Amino acid sequence: MQAYISFLRSRLSVLMLAWLLLPCALSAPASNPQTSLHWKNCTVENFPFIATLQVPEEYISLLGSAPRLDCADLEVPVDWDHPDGKKFKLGMARYRASGTSKRLGTLVYNPGGPGGSGAETAMGQALGIALYSNKTTDHYDVIGFDPRGVGLSTPLKCDPKLYNARASTLPTMKAEFEKLVNSNKAWGEGCKKLTGDLFDHLDTISVARDLEALRAAIGEGPLNWLGLSYGTQIGQLYAQFYPNLVGRMVLDGNVDHSLSETSALLAEVTTYENTLHQFFNWCNTTATVEECPFHNKNLPRLFKNLIAKAKKNPIPAPGCKGDPGHCKSQASDEDILYNVQPMLVVQDPVPSSQSGWAGLAQALNEAMNGNATLLSSPLASDETDPLFPYIAVGCADWTHSAKSVSDIQYKRQMAINIAPFTQGISQSYLTQVACLGWPAEVADPPQLLDPKQMAKAPPVLMVNSLHDPETSYVWAEGLRNQIPSAVLLTRNGSGHTSYPLGGATTAVIDAFLVDGVLPPQNVVLDS
Ligand SMILES: *[C@@H]1O[C@H](CO)[C@@H](O)[C@H](O)[C@H]1NC(C)=O
Ligand SMILES: *[C@@H]1O[C@H](CO)[C@@H](O)[C@H](O)[C@H]1NC(C)=O
Ligand SMILES: *[C@@H]1O[C@H](CO)[C@@H](O)[C@H](O)[C@H]1NC(C)=O
Ligand SMILES: *[C@@H]1O[C@H](CO)[C@@H](O)[C@H](O)[C@H]1NC(C)=O
Ligand SMILES: *[C@@H]1O[C@H](CO)[C@@H](O)[C@H](O)[C@H]1NC(C)=O
Repeated sequence: MQAYISFLRSRLSVLMLAWLLLPCALSAPASNPQTSLHWKNCTVENFPFIATLQVPEEYISLLGSAPRLDCADLEVPVDWDHPDGKKFKLGMARYRASGTSKRLGTLVYNPGGPGGSGAETAMGQALGIALYSNKTTDHYDVIGFDPRGVGLSTPLKCDPKLYNARASTLPTMKAEFEKLVNSNKAWGEGCKKLTGDLFDHLDTISVARDLEALRAAIGEGPLNWLGLSYGTQIGQLYAQFYPNLVGRMVLDGNVDHSLSETSALLAEVTTYENTLHQFFNWCNTTATVEECPFHNKNLPRLFKNLIAKAKKNPIPAPGCKGDPGHCKSQASDEDILYNVQPMLVVQDPVPSSQSGWAGLAQALNEAMNGNATLLSSPLASDETDPLFPYIAVGCADWTHSAKSVSDIQYKRQMAINIAPFTQGISQSYLTQVACLGWPAEVADPPQLLDPKQMAKAPPVLMVNSLHDPETSYVWAEGLRNQIPSAVLLTRNGSGHTSYPLGGATTAVIDAFLVDGVLPPQNVVLDS
């Protein structure tokens, strides 16, 4: 078990548990419309990545009899405007309450992404990786929720070759802009062809409706929800549509889905840059030499030099070799800046993280010595690669209105002025540029939550850290203003989301989930 756990520990990341999927076999369709869940042992029959990840068979086989774990799926309409039309399968895994304390009900959990699999977290938990707190799992069955297109749910399918062939997101000439739009479009059209009707309905409005179908099928009354990162966007939309059906809702690492492109970008590049500076300071002051080899060195300058060097000549990534390689054989400035952002997500390694900030320090050090393997961009290898939903869902949820190369350059110039180290390269930027030419509508465009609906919602606990590399505190404030009943709890620290850290913030989240106790407004905690 230990090897598998350390394997998982090195793989799982909080934001996007995207490198390892352990799907259950999908069970036979129930009667139509399906109104209850039929739980079965999870199995590994459809596990698509077993070969590439080299997980030992004996550990995988444990899934079928892992304690407290089971799997189910639910048939849901592809298009909620046509509920009698085509259906797809919403897959899920459940980690059952310990039985040692009073069971309060079911908590539905989503780790974010878009593209992160909740089912995978339930499976990880059952195999011994503490992704949920003991207090949570003493009192709740936790259902790991996989949105449409993700994980155990009917997957988004795309051509990995077309994904890997997409053009640079930093066009500086008309021809490069056209190449970008055309390569995005070609990849998207491949997804549409392979996925079918579901492709046009990957937006989060549809996901929130799926979640209501799940709540009804659980059959225990209101929805208890713990959403991290993108999971906050699912939760807030659910609360807008079904305010009277909200039970205990926690939103951790908040997305404000009301912003224009430049506002969203501005907040994100600022918080990424700010957290990078927290990392620089940590390296220079708090970290041991083993954790960060840049003591008494001017890391900010070295970082800038690395980016400039990679811009001139991409840095080799010899560890990415293979056929097909799992990452690009070299890393450009663009690759490095996209990949540093998620490496800031967890400061200290926790079970659900990769290697924490020490891992980032190591990756930078190796890159400065000519080996950028750890900063190279991942490549897709499979038709259901978990890399895909991130972009496809983003394209359905966020506008991407640049019409020319100069539209992109103005945006970047603004970002570079504000964030000279990270230069605007960020998740918001990726969505705004990688979705140009996308062959599906923006079905869930950014807008403020409906104040009349939100006025009906019961208390919601929001949590955000001050130095979050991905979801800015500015977004948390913006969302708080749209949820009159929200209490915002602040963690005075770095990193994206707080529940998985198991600190004082987790204890306050549990106090709300389990005891119904909300903290006062404006509490700031250190861990
Ligand atoms: C299902 O899982 C339980 C443990 O949770 C185990 O005892 C049982 O043998 C499993 N059933 C099958 C058919 O594998
Ligand atoms: C949580 O429970 C497990 C098993 O019951 C135990 O091994 C572990 O130490 C507990 N964790 C904490 C933080 O108390
Ligand atoms: C690193 O820390 C030293 C001592 O505290 C300080 O003098 C120096 O300016 C710091 N370097 C950077 C780049 O922050
Ligand atoms: C490059 O770095 C990777 C990741 O640390 C390592 O696995 C690989 O052996 C290194 N390759 C060379 C040629 O140094
Ligand atoms: C956060 O912590 C830092 C030092 O650890 C402190 O200087 C600062 O005042 C704190 N901020 C808040 C809002 O508590």
